Amino acid sequence: MKKFFYRKQKYSIDPNGVVTKKSFSNIALIKYWGKKKNKIQIPLNSSISYSLVDVYTVTRLIYHLKKRKERNFSVRVFFSGKEKISFIPKILEFFHRISFYCSYLRDFNFVIETENTFPHSSGIASSASSMSALALCIMEIEKKLVSSLKEDFFLKKASFLARLGSGSACRSIYPGLVVWGGHKSIKGSNNLYAIPYPYQVHPIFTKMVDTILVIDEDPKEISSSKGHQLMNYNPYAKERLKCANKNMERLISILKVGDLQDFGELIEHEALSLHAMIMTSHPYFLWMKPNTLNVLYKVWDFRKQSRKNIYFTLDAGANVHLLYPIQEKKFIMKLIYNDLFSYCKKIIESFCI
Ligand code: PMV
Repeated sequence: MKKFFYRKQKYSIDPNGVVTKKSFSNIALIKYWGKKKNKIQIPLNSSISYSLVDVYTVTRLIYHLKKRKERNFSVRVFFSGKEKISFIPKILEFFHRISFYCSYLRDFNFVIETENTFPHSSGIASSASSMSALALCIMEIEKKLVSSLKEDFFLKKASFLARLGSGSACRSIYPGLVVWGGHKSIKGSNNLYAIPYPYQVHPIFTKMVDTILVIDEDPKEISSSKGHQLMNYNPYAKERLKCANKNMERLISILKVGDLQDFGELIEHEALSLHAMIMTSHPYFLWMKPNTLNVLYKVWDFRKQSRKNIYFTLDAGANVHLLYPIQEKKFIMKLIYNDLFSYCKKIIESFCI
């Protein structure tokens, strides 16, 4: 399968140029947590996310053909106009991982210029949108070099490459609902690249809003890559995997019939399961802050009283994502500004389509 993405052929090289690509952030409904041992970026379980169309990264990749062939990669990175030497090791590691599939990378000097639409230190993981935007730029160069490249291959390979930069980034290649990781009930799902969710989705789930309540802007003390590793020693890991697989099965029928209450119950359970894993790892840790809990209790109270469909999910951190159908937006924004705003540093809003 991996050989599929390897192309050994002579390229007719464009000496200089620039490509620009945009890629969304995403929020997982069924969370990817844990990687297979001794494999590169292969998930323990299958995951599904909504792409957040208003929360994205724009990347420009400028390339100049090197005068002389050399083994080393050459890259400079600018983030919001400022050179970021600290980003280089991650980019070089990414280039090393993908060099087998993109041998042309060594032939160019690269400058990466990247910007996010969301505030920099907002605690919103930018690795998914930034790695997928970079993977799309690299594929855009490949498209210039290989004229016969088809759109379907372009997207599959972009997702395959993005995965090697940051696991969840492979889902950011597509809008809407996106699946990564093989699951027996999802046709075409696999561990190497993400696919658009292939089944029927009730209209209610095609117009959802995600309001992100930024509770903590600081970088996490335990990064998600460290967290994934800790799953290898977590005493509850096996049960978590069984549960994630069952939750995916349940979600397929929920998405079809349009049952919002079941959807909400399921995504909240997933979010808390993810946090339970980090709380029971060695070393253990808490990503939630007091204000995360304050928000969760308020959401539960509000839901009981109003019977509105507002549900939360959590990422690997303290921030809360509130998911609800667009029809309920006016009412729910009132709740957010009246009752939840005081717990947050910032609010970021996006459609999930
Ligand atoms: O892609 P990573 O390595 O940053 O891991 C992301 C893990 C979660 O965001 C917690 C879940 C997910 O599926 O996105």
